[in-house]
Amino acid sequence: MSDDPDSDADGELEARLEEQDAFDPPESFVEQANVRDEEIYETFEEEWPECWEQAADLLSWDSEYDTVLEDDDEPFYEWFTGGELNASANCLDRHVEDGAKNRAAIQWEGELGETRTYTYGELLNEVEAFAASLRDLGVEEDDVVTLYMPMIPELPIAMLACARIGAPHSVVFAGFSADALATRMNAAESEYLVTCDGYYRRGDALNHKEKADKGLRGVDHDVTSVVVDRLGDELTHFLGSNAHDYGDLVEEHAGASVEPVSRDAEDMLFLMYTSGTTGEPKGVKHTTGGYLSYAAWTSHAVLDIKPEDTYWCAADIGWITGHSYIVYGPLALGTTTMMYEGTPDYPERDRLWEIIERNRVDIFYTAPTAIRSFMKWGEQFPAEHDLSSLRLLGTVGEPINPRAWKWYYTHIGNEECPIVDTWWQTETGGMMITTLPALTTMKPGTAGPPLPGIDAQVVDAAGQEVEAGKAGYVTVNKPWPGMLRTLYNNDDRFLEEYWQEYSDPDSDEWVYFPEDGAKIDDDGYITILGRVDDVINVSGHRLGTMEIESAVVGVSGVAEAAVVGGDHDVKGEAVYTYVILEDGQEATESMRERIVESVEDGIGPIARPESVVFTPELPKTRSGKIMRRLLEDIASGNDLGDTSTLRNPEVVDEIAGHVDDE
Ligand code: WTA
Repeated sequence: MSDDPDSDADGELEARLEEQDAFDPPESFVEQANVRDEEIYETFEEEWPECWEQAADLLSWDSEYDTVLEDDDEPFYEWFTGGELNASANCLDRHVEDGAKNRAAIQWEGELGETRTYTYGELLNEVEAFAASLRDLGVEEDDVVTLYMPMIPELPIAMLACARIGAPHSVVFAGFSADALATRMNAAESEYLVTCDGYYRRGDALNHKEKADKGLRGVDHDVTSVVVDRLGDELTHFLGSNAHDYGDLVEEHAGASVEPVSRDAEDMLFLMYTSGTTGEPKGVKHTTGGYLSYAAWTSHAVLDIKPEDTYWCAADIGWITGHSYIVYGPLALGTTTMMYEGTPDYPERDRLWEIIERNRVDIFYTAPTAIRSFMKWGEQFPAEHDLSSLRLLGTVGEPINPRAWKWYYTHIGNEECPIVDTWWQTETGGMMITTLPALTTMKPGTAGPPLPGIDAQVVDAAGQEVEAGKAGYVTVNKPWPGMLRTLYNNDDRFLEEYWQEYSDPDSDEWVYFPEDGAKIDDDGYITILGRVDDVINVSGHRLGTMEIESAVVGVSGVAEAAVVGGDHDVKGEAVYTYVILEDGQEATESMRERIVESVEDGIGPIARPESVVFTPELPKTRSGKIMRRLLEDIASGNDLGDTSTLRNPEVVDEIAGHVDDE
C-alpha cells in the first residue's frame, strides 16, 4: 500500500467512477446554458425544416432568404435560398459595429511562448488589407485559393479575406506532403497559393516553403503565391518568381476598405479535400448560408459558446474541426477563439494546462487521442494548474473509450464540466450526434442521441433499424443545413459515395450514408464503432488506405500491397502495411525505409506506417479479393476466427508471425 494519502483518494475515486455509467450535467452549468429548453427535441421535430430558422437567425443576412429548404432536386438540397450574406462580415464587421471592437477575437500562442492577440477591430483591418492584396494579385469571385499553412494567425486571416471577396478557400493541412498539395491544387484548378516559410515543432524551425515549392512543381498550371514570413531570420527564403511577401502586401494595403461581397446562400464558401474509398481525395463543397448557420448553431447549442468566453479548440485548422470550431462557428458568435501553434508536450507535458490557466479558458474541445496521451503522461501535469475556469469539455474525431472519458471528466473537468462527445464528419459540416450539455445525461463512450432536427438512426445492411445493442450502420434520413452540397466537379461521385447505399430514388427516399458502423441503446443513444469503408482514423486524422497503398506500390520492387488500420493504444488506429515484393527483391531494411519514405512523400508523416510486414502472399478469398478484415485483426492482435474460406489459409500464420517480429 502506498502511504501517500492522495493516491488512496484517487483509488476510491477511480473505483466509484468505474461503476458509474451515466452522468448528469451539473446544476451550475444548466443554469447558464445557451440551450435549456427540454422541448427543443420535440419542437425541432414538429417544426422541421422551419426549425432551422433558429440557426439562420444567429447570422446577419444582407437579404432575407425566401425558402428554408429547397428539395426539388434531391439529394442536391439547397438551404436558405434567395438569402445573401458574407461570412467575413458575419465573423467580423457586425461584432465591431456592435461595440466589440476591442474584444479579443483570436488569442494565439506560439510554440516558443510568444503570444499575439487580435481584437475584432484589428482582425477586421488585417483581413481587409489582405483581401485588398488578393484582389490586386488578380483573385476574383469564385476563384479557388489554396491555403497551405500551419497554425499561425495568417491562416484564419487568409480564410476570412477569401470569404470577404467571395473566393472559396481550399485549406491543405500543413502536415500533408508536397504531392498531396499538388494533387489538391490540380483537382481544384486553383491558381493561387498562400503559404509560409516555416514553423516551429518541438523547438525546431521546420522549412515549410521547400515543401510548398516542391508541390508547386507538380501543379499543371501557373500559380501566384504569397508567403508569410513566420520564422524571420531563423530561416532565409527566396520568394522566386510569381511569389509575394505577405508582410509587404499587407503593409502596402494597410487601411484599405474592402466591402464584403454579398454571396448567395448557396455560393461555395470553401472546399475541403478529404479521404474516401478510392485513391483520389474528395473535394467536399460547403456553402455560405447553410454551413455558416450550422457551424454557428452547433457552437451555440453544443459548445455553449458566449461572446465573453475564452474558447479553445485544440485541433488544427487544416481539418474540418478547425474550420467549423476554431474559425467560423466561434467567430460568428463573437467569442475569443484560441489558437496554439505547437505540440502539447513542448516544452513540457503541462503545456496545454498552462495555457488554459493563464488564459482562463472556459471551454476546451479536443480529440480522444490527445486525452489518451494525457492519461499516459499522468494526472500530475494537469494537477499542477488551476483549471477551475473550465465550464465545458468536448471531444471529436474518433470514439472515446469510457476510461479516457472518465479521466477527462475527473482530471480536467474536476467533475464539474459536462463533456460533449460529438460525432460528425468533414461532409456534415458540423456536429450531428452528441448530447446537449445542459439537457441530456452523458454516457461515457457513447456520443449520444442525434441533435434536435437531425434524423439519424442505426440500420442493418437492408436499411432496417437494428434492435438495441446490435451493430449496424449510421444513416441520416433528412437533410440538414451544414451538409456538403456535392463533391467539387463530381456530382456522380457524390451520389455514389453517399446516397447510393440506402436511398430509393423511385420512391423519392434519400438517405445519407456516412460509412460509419454504430450501435444504438434503448434510450436512443448511438455509440460509433468506426469506419466501414477503406478510411482509417489515425490520431483523429482521416486517411485513405488506398492513397497509402498507391504510395507503397510506387516503390520500385514492390509488387502488391495492402494497407489497413490496426488498434493502437494512443492513436486509436495505426497504419499497417503488408507488402509483397517482386521476385528477386529482398526484404531489406533499406526497402522498408524506402516504403516509409514514399508514404511520407505521398501523404505526409501522419500516415507513416507503424509496421511494414513483408509477406509472400496476402490472404485472399476464393474469388481473389484481399481479406482486409483479417489483416486488420492480425494487426490488432485479435482472434482471427474461421479462416477456412480463404483460398490460402496457411498464409495467415505466416503473416501473423511476421507482425509479432516487428
Ligand atoms: C470519426 C472529423 C466516434 C467517424 C470531425 C467519422 C468519430 C470520421 C467521432 C470523420 C466521435 C468523428 N466518435 N467517431 N465523436 N467524430 N468520428 O471527416 O468515423 O475528419 O466518419 O471529421 O471520424 O472524420 P473527419
